[in-house]
Amino acid sequence: MDYRLQRQNINTEPFMTKPPQYNRKSIVMRTDKVYKCEIINIVELTHLEKLFHLKILNRTERRIFKFRPGQFVMLEVPGFGEVPISISSSSNNTEYIELCVRKAGRTTSVLHQAQKGAKLGIRGPFGTSFPMEEMMGSSILLIAGGLGLAPLRAPVYWVTEHRDKYKDVHVLYGAKDPEQMLFTYQYDEWKKVNNINLLTIVEKQGKGWDGRTGLITELFKEVSIKPDNTYAIVCGPPVMFNFVCNYLDGLGIPMNRMFVSLERRMHCGMGKCCRCMIGSTFTCVDGPVFDYWSVLNLKEAI
Ligand SMILES: Cc1cc2nc3c(=O)[nH]c(=O)nc-3n(C[C@H](O)[C@H](O)[C@H](O)COP(=O)(O)OP(=O)(O)OC[C@H]3O[C@@H](n4cnc5c(N)ncnc54)[C@H](O)[C@@H]3O)c2cc1C
Ligand code: FES
Repeated sequence: MDYRLQRQNINTEPFMTKPPQYNRKSIVMRTDKVYKCEIINIVELTHLEKLFHLKILNRTERRIFKFRPGQFVMLEVPGFGEVPISISSSSNNTEYIELCVRKAGRTTSVLHQAQKGAKLGIRGPFGTSFPMEEMMGSSILLIAGGLGLAPLRAPVYWVTEHRDKYKDVHVLYGAKDPEQMLFTYQYDEWKKVNNINLLTIVEKQGKGWDGRTGLITELFKEVSIKPDNTYAIVCGPPVMFNFVCNYLDGLGIPMNRMFVSLERRMHCGMGKCCRCMIGSTFTCVDGPVFDYWSVLNLKEAI
C-alpha cells in the first residue's frame, strides 16, 4: 500500500482562475504570490484617509488578477510590513485597483507618505465576497458607517454596472462629522446617473453642513423596505452591526439575507497563521464576509 501523502493543493496554483463565491471555501485562493505594483494616483479623501490607485506592473499578471466585491488584499509596504485592505474599486476595472487606506499605525503611516510612482506589493485577493448574483431581482440596502464605505464601494460599483438587475438600491451612509465623509465627489453620480437612493447623516454638525444629523438608524425612517424581497450589506465599526442588523431583523429581513464584513488582525491572509481566528473560524478564509446569522453564532465576533 502507498502511504505517501497526496500532493496538497496549496501554493501550487499560482493564480485563481475562478473567483470564489460567498461561502465556497474550497476555491478561495491560497498563494504567497506577491504582485508588484506601482502607485499611479493618490486621492486625498480626508485628513486620515487616502485612496491609492495601484497598477500591477506585469501585464499578464494584471490581466489575471480578478476579485469580487468584499474581498481584500494583503498590501506590502516594502521594509515596513503588510496590512489587510479591502478592495474599493470596481471588479470590472482590469487596469488598476483602488485601496482606501486610513492612517492607523506604523505601516499605514509610512504608506501615507508614499508618492506617485512608489512600488508596493499585493497578495490576494483573499476571503469571501458578497453574493451579488444571489441578490439580483431584489432591492438592496447598502449601509456603511465611517471607513465602512471603503469595502462597500466595490458592491456599489457592481450594482451600478448591473443596475437593471436590481430593484430599489439604497445607500445609507453615516459619518462622525462632515469632514470625515468619504468619496463625497461621487455622490451626485450615484444619485443622478445610477438611480441610487443615497442618504447621508453625520453625528456632529460641522461647518457648512445643512444635511441630517443623528445616528444611521435615523435614515431607515426615510426608506420604504419590503422585507421579503430585500438584501442588506452592512460595513462599518462592529458596534454598528448589532444595532443596524437588529433593526433590520425587527423589520423582518431574514438574518441570512444581511451580510457584514468582519475585521480582525491578520498576518498571512490565507488560513495558516491562526492570527485571525474566532473560535475555529478563520476570518481571512471563512470571511471576512459573513451573513449575520453566522456572525451571531460566532462567539465574540462582534
Ligand atoms: C479584511 C480587512 C479589511 C480591511 N480593510 C481596510 C480598508 O479598506 N482600509 C483601511 O484603512 N483599513 C482596513 N483594514 C484595517 C487595516 O488592516 C489596519 O488599519 C491596518 O492593519 C493597521 O496597520 P498599521 O501597521 O498601520 O497599524 P498598527 O500599528 O498595526 O495598529 C494601529 C492600530 O490599528 C489597529 N488595527 C490593526 N489592525 C487592525 C485590524 N485588522 N482591524 C482593526 N484594527 C486594527 C490596532 O489595534 C491599533 O490600534 C482592514 C482590515 C481587515 C482585517
Ligand atoms: S490571517 Fe493567518 S490564518 Fe487568518
